Amino acid sequence: MLCVNTSFVPISFSSSKLRTPISCTLPGTVAAAEPLLLNAVRGVDVERPPVWLMRQAGRYMKSYQTICEKYPSFRERSENVDLVVEISLQPWHVFKPDGVILFSDILTPLSGMNIPFDIVKGKGPVIFDPIHTAAQVNEVREFIPEDSVPYVGEALTILRKEVDHKAAVLGFVGAPFTLASYVVEGGSSKNFSKIKRLAFSESKILHSLLQKFTTSMARYIQYQADNGAQAVQIFDSWATELSPVDFEEFSLPYLKQIIDTVKKSHPKLPLILYASGSGGLLERLALTGVDVVSLDWTVDMADGRRRLGPNIAVQGNVDPGVLFGSKDFITDRINDTVRKAGRGKHILNLGHGIKVGTPEENVAHFFEVAKSIRY
Ligand code: CP3
Repeated sequence: MLCVNTSFVPISFSSSKLRTPISCTLPGTVAAAEPLLLNAVRGVDVERPPVWLMRQAGRYMKSYQTICEKYPSFRERSENVDLVVEISLQPWHVFKPDGVILFSDILTPLSGMNIPFDIVKGKGPVIFDPIHTAAQVNEVREFIPEDSVPYVGEALTILRKEVDHKAAVLGFVGAPFTLASYVVEGGSSKNFSKIKRLAFSESKILHSLLQKFTTSMARYIQYQADNGAQAVQIFDSWATELSPVDFEEFSLPYLKQIIDTVKKSHPKLPLILYASGSGGLLERLALTGVDVVSLDWTVDMADGRRRLGPNIAVQGNVDPGVLFGSKDFITDRINDTVRKAGRGKHILNLGHGIKVGTPEENVAHFFEVAKSIRY
């Protein structure tokens, strides 16, 4: 389709020199300068699926381990603009993924909401004063990103300049139920007994906490988009601990509220939803109004695609364990996933984050094979 540019700037000039790409105004089309990932999500005909990996910056990379030796505090690594930019760009420099995700954590907003926390090596997230009472929920402050996490906006702005339309810059937030699970349990949990006790005996308290996270995360997505994020992933990693009927009460309405709010202010911003182990909930995830559902590997991609319908794009869904396999096995699994996802509206990714100990050369192989695919 021909894109007529009335300002007489050569189209080839647009991607490198202008901050905003020249875009076609024809409905349903996107300028050629748009990153592949955005085109794929919007249903534009693309030659291959875009690819990025969850946790693509992290401990499996030697260069990240080196930074960790110099800066042992996760909070420092994720709250200092220079470090955030450097770490986010580590996989970009090596693998050239089609999406560059901000290095941060879903828990990063908590201190700005008056919920002190840390991420401790070998232990994971620690919430110092887990929330169980209405009085504690009252103390939770509304999140004002520009005041509490200005380094996130600054880092995203720099990432946009560095990546320069060659890939999409991705932001992310935690979903209300998943954030609540950390702050009620006090950290990672195996049986989620504390949050279930709250949900099933004092649901009003949990609902008021979920509402605070909902308002705050909608605002956080808007802030990330205003500062350079071109798509935002919502992690509801632990929503699948809920049975479907409880998901409908404690997660779905809040996800929907976030998505409705963001769609009003940022109608073109693609939103991706990830829940680990979501096979039993796929149709319900689609009800949130999200643009992309990120599938874990317990669902066959062909089944996932069919169950979600033609309007929703899919992301995933290679088992992260495949990256411990032989190169031939990795190649076969990528091809199988891409074939089952069908042409377009697919972002190739893992079904969850890369695991510690994954050989970097296998990650390199994954990207090489993925980027050589042509529909
Ligand atoms: O994907 C990316 O590359 C961006 C970085 C990112 C991190 N955390 C960095 C991180 C993202 C997207 C997250 C999201 C996140 N954080 C989720 C949702 C995704 C998922 O895994 O389901 C969750 C549940 C958290 C909470 C969290 N943060 C946990 C459970 C842990 C401990 C994990 C462990 O293996 O120790 C963290 C710490 C964390 N966040 C690490 C990284 C790279 C590992 C610690 C470190 O590098 O020092």
